[in-house]
Parts: sequence; structure tokens; C-alpha cells
Amino acid sequence: MANEFLKKVNAQINGAIIISDEKLMEPYLIDWRENFRGRARAILTPTDTQMVSTIMRIADEEKQIIVPQGGNTGLVGGGIPDQTGESIVLSLKKMNSIIDFSPKNRTITVQAGCILQHIHDVVENENLYFPLSLAAKGSCTIGGNLATNAGGLNVLRYGSMREQCLGLEIVLADGTILNELMPLLKNNTGYDLKNLFIGSEGTLGIITGACLKLVSKPSTRATSIAVTDKFEHALVLLDRLQHHSGDQVESFEIMPKTLLDIIYKQFPDISQPIKPETGFILFIEISSSKFDDLRSNKIGQSSLQNIMEYFLETALNDNLISNAVVASNAKQREAFWTIRENAPLATKRESWPVNTDISVRRDKLAQFYYHASVEVAKICKNSRICGYGHIGDGNLHFNVVESEDGDPNWKDKRQSILTAIYSSLEEFGGSISAEHGIGQLKTDQLIETKNPTYYRMMTLIKNNFDPKNILNPNRIIK
Ligand code: FAD
Ligand code: LAC
Ligand code: ZN
Repeated sequence: MANEFLKKVNAQINGAIIISDEKLMEPYLIDWRENFRGRARAILTPTDTQMVSTIMRIADEEKQIIVPQGGNTGLVGGGIPDQTGESIVLSLKKMNSIIDFSPKNRTITVQAGCILQHIHDVVENENLYFPLSLAAKGSCTIGGNLATNAGGLNVLRYGSMREQCLGLEIVLADGTILNELMPLLKNNTGYDLKNLFIGSEGTLGIITGACLKLVSKPSTRATSIAVTDKFEHALVLLDRLQHHSGDQVESFEIMPKTLLDIIYKQFPDISQPIKPETGFILFIEISSSKFDDLRSNKIGQSSLQNIMEYFLETALNDNLISNAVVASNAKQREAFWTIRENAPLATKRESWPVNTDISVRRDKLAQFYYHASVEVAKICKNSRICGYGHIGDGNLHFNVVESEDGDPNWKDKRQSILTAIYSSLEEFGGSISAEHGIGQLKTDQLIETKNPTYYRMMTLIKNNFDPKNILNPNRIIK
């Protein structure tokens, strides 16, 4: 162990937290999309905050670069070290305990390495609900969700990760522990530092713990898939359902038929409840924990199901949709969401897609969709436009997949396609990253597109929290 930093970690903590075997390090050094490969001196796997503090104190002494990592499901390369081989990956995965769960206070305090799905399971046992939900929920961690301010399938109703967090425990770049794990709903005591760390992607401090707020678990749901010909109809329908349901829309997601076909092709064993000829499908869910909404009518339907059926019927009559299916039980609902959640994996298997994560104001989303589609078609007529996602949040993964017959020039065209999408985005005043963050992927693009004063303020914050630039350098701030 020639390296001074690792020697000190070995002596002051325990050699057992150091992984340096090449084979064992591999899964930490490549991202989910396989777009980023890095190298590292070692992976460290601490089990408590004190260990993280000691690691950071030693890193500060030795000027050692630290790349924090949770479940490694991030989509912008933020948790993957660079190619130099001089970084240390600090994996929080083993810090996965629940520190305090108070159903009466409606809060849960956890170590940062807790898997999102685990939190769902624990709180749902007590009839409570932690709303953040995304396809990577079985492997992403609360620390990673916070560090990226993750979004997902129900931001529309509950807000993104930022809105779920009451307090954080942070280890600063010099090893100081800042414990603000206060389970208080109201706490106006000066600057809200936690909101600086949320979304900071490991560049300002290590999140070691979080206090999260909980809501009532929905006890009834109505879920459907509807087919619409026009993107703009989806927005009319969403607005309508938000009014009709009294803002009980839990999720409202859009997917073009082109993408649905790819999912059915890549996952031939999943159920295929709907097979549209053209257009888009919408995944629609309303939910409630209200006693009144649970009560069934004479034919056994809850009032939420009535709302959904009335909504779909009027949409059919008004020619806003051409077909729809409603889930009649929990298993069918699960099957609907499986289709949606397989979208990222299906496109990854199909080809090397162009991926984006943009947002524009909701009332301009349809115009953006058509504008960007026309621009992409000018570059590559046969490519498959797979713009899908969180339409209720104005957030689309406007992705483009290679033509089905293959395209020998696909590799070269990818960059032109990206440029066309981002030029369209600029015209609509949108965001280059709605929910995945900046990471390595968009650091240069951030510099080019962010208001210079805003970027300068962010640089000042980074310099203040991490004066030696050892925390995830060259991510967000360069
Ligand atoms: P990692 O990938 O390990 O890290 C992500 C970033 O956070 C890195 O910059 C890392 O350095 C930093 N970080 C991690 N842990 C800490 C910590 N404890 N302290 C400080 N910094 C830390 N995202 C969405 O927003 N919405 C979606 O719908 C969505 N769907 C997805 C679907 C799939 C199939 C996949 C693979 C990913 C999806 N993502 C989505 C992206 C990803 O799941 C989220 O960004 C998630 O929040 C990352 O959590 P993680 O624990 O895997 O973090
Ligand atoms: C999704 C991820 C990629 O919504 O954010 O599928
Ligand atoms: Zn998404």
C-alpha cells in the first residue's frame, strides 16, 4: 500500500473497508448506461459517519480526491471517477440502517446508503408513504437521490426529493460533521444549508444521513393506459384530470408508440395490455387515502374508479383519446407500470440511444416536441423518436433511437441530433437537466448555458465548502 492516504485509512480505521482488487472494483467504475468508465486507487466502504469523517480528514491532509457513490444508478456519470486512477470512490452502500422511524411524527431518519425501495417497504407497513418513485428504486440510495435531487414518477403530486427532506447529516470536505437531522416540519433558523447540499452531486459534502417526511399511504388507486393521437391532447387531458380529481393525479406519463414497440420487442414476456396503431400512450394514475374514496358503489367500484371511468369516457367522446384500458386489480396495475419502468432498459438494449432529460414549461411542451422532432428528422429521417416521460412536470426524456435497420453513420449523427435537440430547447427557454443532474456529462454544457452571474455564485459556494477541490472535482463546477 504505497499510497499515503490509503496507509492512513488502513492504520486509523480498518483495512477491511478498502477494496483494491481490480475485479471487485469494476462495478463501481462503470455507469448504468456504460457511457463512463473510470479508474480508482480503491473503493472505500465505511459503515458509519465517524468513519466518513476520518476518511475526509485524511483526504484533506493528503489532498486526496474523493468521489462519493451510492447505488451507482446515476445517468450523468457523477459517481464515476475519471481516467487518471488517482481518485478514491467513497461508497455509502454499507451505511444502510434506519436511525429513527416515528409513524406518529410522520418522519423517518436513515443513513444515506439506504435503498429507496427499503424505505418504501418499511413505512408502508405502518400505513405511511414515502412518495419518491423511480425505476431504479431497487438499487438507488437515499444519499444519491438527495445528491441528484431525483424526480421520477410522481413529482407532479409530491414534488422532487428536495420536497421530501427535512434535515441532513453532512460530512464536510475537512471531515467536520454537520448534524442537522432534525425531524421538524418548520424550522426557519437562518439560511437553509440543506438545500445547498441537495442536488450538489457530491461536490460540496458527503451526505451521511437524512430525515425524510412521510405522507398517508394511498389506500385506493385507479390506473389506466390511454391512447392519444396528438401530444397536445395529453396536456389537455392532464389539466382536466387534475381538476376533476381535486389534484389527486399521482402520475401522468407519456410514451410514443415507437417506444412502446421497442419495449414489447425487448421484453417479449411482459403483458401487452394495449397495442396502438400510431400516436402516444398515457400512463394515468389517481390515488387517495380518503375514507370516502374507498367506498364502493353498487357495482363494486370505488369513487376513484368512477372518476377515472368518467374521465376516459368524456375523453373518448371528445376525441381526445381513441382507446383506453383500466387496471382491474393490483396485478394489472403492476403490469402497466412495468411497461413504463422498462423504457430506459429497453432503449439501451435496442441501440446506443441519444438520451436527454429536458424540461420546458408545460404549456409549451407539445410545441417543443414537434419542433425538436422536425429538427431531428432533418438529420436522420429514419431514426426513432422516443420522447417519453414526466409530462406533468414538463420533463421529457427526448431520446432518439437508431433506425430499426441500423445506420452505419449512427455514431457520427448522434452529436448532431443532440445539438438539434438542445437548439430547440434554447428556443423554448428550457432546462438541459430536469432531474438527472449535471455530473460529468453536462459540466461544459452548464458553463455554456447558465447565467454567468449564477455560475460565478455557484463557484464561490464550491470554493467555500471545498477549498482544496477534493470533492468530486470537475462535476458541475470546473
Ligand atoms: P449514484 O449514481 O451513486 O450517484 C449519483 C450522484 O450523487 C453522483 O454525483 C455521486 O457522487 C453523488 N452521491 C451519491 N451518494 C452521495 C452521498 N451520500 N453524498 C454525496 N453525494 C452522493 N432519476 C430521476 O430523477 N428520475 C427517474 O425517473 C429516474 N429513473 C431512472 C431509471 C433507471 C433505470 C436508472 C438506472 C436511473 C434512473 N434515474 C432517475 C437516475 C438515478 O436513479 C437517480 O439519479 C438516483 O437518484 C441516483 O441514486 P444513486 O444512489 O444510484 O446515486
Ligand atoms: C425515466 C428515467 C430515465 O424516467 O429518468 O425513465
Ligand atoms: Zn425520468
